[in-house]
Amino acid sequence: MAQAEQREAWGTRIGLILAAAGNAIGIGNLLRFPGQAANNGGGAFMIPYLICFFLFGIPMMWVAWAIGRRGGQYNHGSLPGMFDRMWASPLAKYVGVVGLTLPFCFVLYYTYIEAWCLGYAWFSFTGDYLSTPGHAVHMTNYYLEFLGQAPSNSYFSGLTAAMFFMAITLILNLFVLARGVAKGIELLAKVAIPLLFLFCVLMAVRVFTLPGEGTALEGLSFLWTPDFSRLGEFSVWMAAAGQVFFTLSIGFGSLESYASYVRADEDIALTGLTTAATNEFVEVIFGSMIAIPAAAVFFGAGAIERVAAGGTFGIGMISMPEILRSFPYAPFFGTVWFLLLFFAAFTSSVAVSQPVLAFFQDELKATRNRATLWLGVLWALGVIPVILYYKYGFLDELDFWAGTVGLAVCALIEVIIFSWIFGATRGVQELNRGALFHVHAGTFKFVVTFITPVALVIILGGWLYGPVIRDKTLTPKPRVAVWIAEPAQYAGTLEPQEDGVDSGDAAFAKEFEQSLKDLATQAKADGTLKATVQLGADGSVQVTRLSATGSLASAGDPARLERYLRGRGYLYKEKPSPQAAGVAVEQEVPILVTVLYTAWHIWMARAMMIGFTIFFLILINIAWRRRASTAAAEATV
Ligand code: ALA
Repeated sequence: MAQAEQREAWGTRIGLILAAAGNAIGIGNLLRFPGQAANNGGGAFMIPYLICFFLFGIPMMWVAWAIGRRGGQYNHGSLPGMFDRMWASPLAKYVGVVGLTLPFCFVLYYTYIEAWCLGYAWFSFTGDYLSTPGHAVHMTNYYLEFLGQAPSNSYFSGLTAAMFFMAITLILNLFVLARGVAKGIELLAKVAIPLLFLFCVLMAVRVFTLPGEGTALEGLSFLWTPDFSRLGEFSVWMAAAGQVFFTLSIGFGSLESYASYVRADEDIALTGLTTAATNEFVEVIFGSMIAIPAAAVFFGAGAIERVAAGGTFGIGMISMPEILRSFPYAPFFGTVWFLLLFFAAFTSSVAVSQPVLAFFQDELKATRNRATLWLGVLWALGVIPVILYYKYGFLDELDFWAGTVGLAVCALIEVIIFSWIFGATRGVQELNRGALFHVHAGTFKFVVTFITPVALVIILGGWLYGPVIRDKTLTPKPRVAVWIAEPAQYAGTLEPQEDGVDSGDAAFAKEFEQSLKDLATQAKADGTLKATVQLGADGSVQVTRLSATGSLASAGDPARLERYLRGRGYLYKEKPSPQAAGVAVEQEVPILVTVLYTAWHIWMARAMMIGFTIFFLILINIAWRRRASTAAAEATV
């Protein structure tokens, strides 16, 4: 084992603040926030959001900085060592495994999303998805093919492009991490954060000056008009809580790791508050001013709900490029948009990988280069199934456990150790040491001892009851998806519409879909229905030929498939565009209905998370045994 290097430190105060802001500001601010707000009551979402922000967002931010700075004084940059110093129990270090498994599993899928942004920045720059005459790029299929989800290959063949951009993203992250805290992470933040602000302003100005069907203000008003009826829904509160964790980087162990590199008398109370405030500024101001207003301009105010329902990725990777490519300077603004997302993600991904890197350095005494190499190998291995099994919900599974439930678990463990075991009185003293403005001790102690833990238990109970018990997410179900096999062939869109679906057909569609899932479950295999449909000028979709493969062989009846498509609201809509002029509407198009048997992959994702947990537990055991034997040897000298 190589000699341990001297513990690093942040170079400057402004560098620390920018790095901490970069840690928090990420895809969560620019995509996840508008998606969550739009889907959970618009302005009414802000009420639970702000309540969660004050109940546990700010308190946990301070708890994280205090735990981290204290840990750093004992040369610990990750939760196992930090907990060990706060709780005199042999269990403490093992409980700290949450601060390794969670950020590591999170970063595996988060960097993949980061890689998509890098890829799309390149595709925007080269004009790859800008439609050329006679060739209208179907953005949904473009995105799904890039990720290997659509069974067609009109734009990408296989996962080569996605893997290529993932490799570049991984190398960039490792490069920054290998350069160290001051010369790597801090330098990146000093470049990326000002660029991020510049790009945000450019995008907001662009969106607010776009001519179109609607106005950007209609988008803002959609986002900020409260639908108070939604406040009674538990799921809205859960969504708000989840967003606060995700956006502030709470429960990842990464703020703690950053805090471990500050000086002993650094003003962490103010730094914590600045981190939260900067993050909220970007989230609430820029997160609201780009994607949703852009959708309002391009599609009209009436369509925002449909766009927002596309979720985080639908808004960012499908709607936004579709909107931007229709306006002047499309390659420029497309590149700016995706680089903005990329930089936001990059400064967060180096932060979230830091705890594992610090663990290798501090506890296993690896040099920074060697620690980076170990991390890189694990990262490369772990990301492979995320890429290969994306379509089977592998990424979503990691997101649910590591990026949602796990954050609340980790935060709950931290706050209990901090306030109940270490002691809230000592805790607040640690927080206020060196602070210009002291956090009010009585209030802080009361909040972290009672309010925050209770709020976290309620949130965890909500997840346990909602997605796990009520929605039975623990039992993976097959997924049914409808694909347009050759989207470039025709000028319009074939997309599910909410309105005007006959309720009898809708009920039939549900039953039909369930029967397809049952067939896939019985066969424990994927199946496909291949159909040729005729698109009518009146929006009708008529199945003219149908064949079924694999487990779905017995489901091949054109009339039933037609009713299913109708029940799911599939309508053909001609899209008038200059490129499409002259294309006849009445035409035949091949479509595919695929049923993906997801169970193996979901269990594989869970096994991977458990496997990494066991692996890190073993490493913790090795590190502490080694430390004990070194201490014993020194004692005998
Ligand atoms: N806090 C980071 C984000 O918002 C992880 O994306």
